[in-house]
Amino acid sequence: MLRYLHGRPDQAAVLVRFWYAMLDECGLLGSGLVEDWEPRLARHFNRSMENGTMRWFVAEDDGRIVGTAAAIVAVPESYVFKDLAATLAGIYVLPGYRKRGIARTLTQNAIRWCRESGCASVRLRASEAARPLYESLGFVSGSEMRLDLR
Ligand SMILES: CC(C)(COP(=O)(O)OP(=O)(O)OC[C@H]1O[C@@H](n2cnc3c(N)ncnc32)[C@H](O)[C@@H]1OP(=O)(O)O)[C@@H](O)C(=O)NCCC(=O)NCCS
Repeated sequence: MLRYLHGRPDQAAVLVRFWYAMLDECGLLGSGLVEDWEPRLARHFNRSMENGTMRWFVAEDDGRIVGTAAAIVAVPESYVFKDLAATLAGIYVLPGYRKRGIARTLTQNAIRWCRESGCASVRLRASEAARPLYESLGFVSGSEMRLDLR
């Protein structure tokens, strides 16, 4: 049975695998990762969950994580702007579990948490596959630009 829960600090190693899978499938790995990326990222996720700057949302099927989303409130402006802006990231659903509304529910849960945490806005970088989903949730494209230097 599918259950929607908060990710826990002790699940950091699994969350790292989902984060990697998202980057890989979205073609965002660039030149690759540093050798010790996995424990390094797990430590970062663990610490950020403990200090409350990152909150993970997971879908579990019989205790196994099948989908993830993260909300992050540690962007630099958070420290000085009255309007807190959160970033959503790490949205990934295992291929066998797609097209059932899991990403939608995870994203909605993350947005609700951001609202309840006092955030004034939520941003994310959309993959082509996920863009229609985000648009249906009210996200609009902004002014972000990119210059490729390689
Ligand atoms: C993009 C991704 C997260 C979507 O996950 P998902 O759980 O399949 O998403 P949802 O089921 O909530 O919605 C996806 C589509 O399924 C449709 N859907 C939802 N429930 C459905 C159902 N019961 N039957 C049929 N279709 C359904 C939705 O309408 C939606 O359609 P749309 O794409 O035309 O808007 C997933 O494909 C993925 O992990 N992709 C690789 C990583 C990635 O791109 N991540 C996003 C980074 S920003």
